[in-house]
Amino acid sequence: MSNKTTINCVVNGQRRTLEVYAIERLLDVLREQLRLTGTKEGCGEGECGACTVLLDGQVVNSCLVPVIQASDSEITTIEGLALSEDQLNAVQQAFIECGGAQCGICTPGMVMAAYDLLNRNPTPTEQDIRVGLAGNLCRCTGYMKIFESVVRACSLNLPQRHRDTEVS
Ligand code: FES
Ligand code: FES
Repeated sequence: MSNKTTINCVVNGQRRTLEVYAIERLLDVLREQLRLTGTKEGCGEGECGACTVLLDGQVVNSCLVPVIQASDSEITTIEGLALSEDQLNAVQQAFIECGGAQCGICTPGMVMAAYDLLNRNPTPTEQDIRVGLAGNLCRCTGYMKIFESVVRACSLNLPQRHRDTEVS
């Protein structure tokens, strides 16, 4: 493998300088170098959505993103969604209340996708929710509870925005 290169990015509101191989997967750098193990690997092929993060506000499958593409970007992972140390984001709270997680492998990706959906559309229809989660697979097939969790999140009076709006 060629030499490492230095990149700068903002991860969950914190400026980070990372030494990486350009072709390393963003997923691996998040999990292994930054120890942000909330982001999961399912298929490793862009099919399941377990590795979903936000890259400059766009949902991406981090297993398909060479980390060099994250240079000078803002990344949000599941660890960055909580509103504070002791207050969860509306989607996280709703998943707990509705039992939206079974084994939990798909859950961070589902929460990230739902978070993105509700940021774009705070009052989604049932069809909007189905389309918003279409890129995320659950091998436990707990789709009804996941769906109910997103509906519940819409009704919770909690702010959506996370703390990485303030970069430190
Ligand atoms: Fe990335 Fe499945 S692990 S899409
Ligand atoms: Fe197990 Fe979805 S909760 S894969």
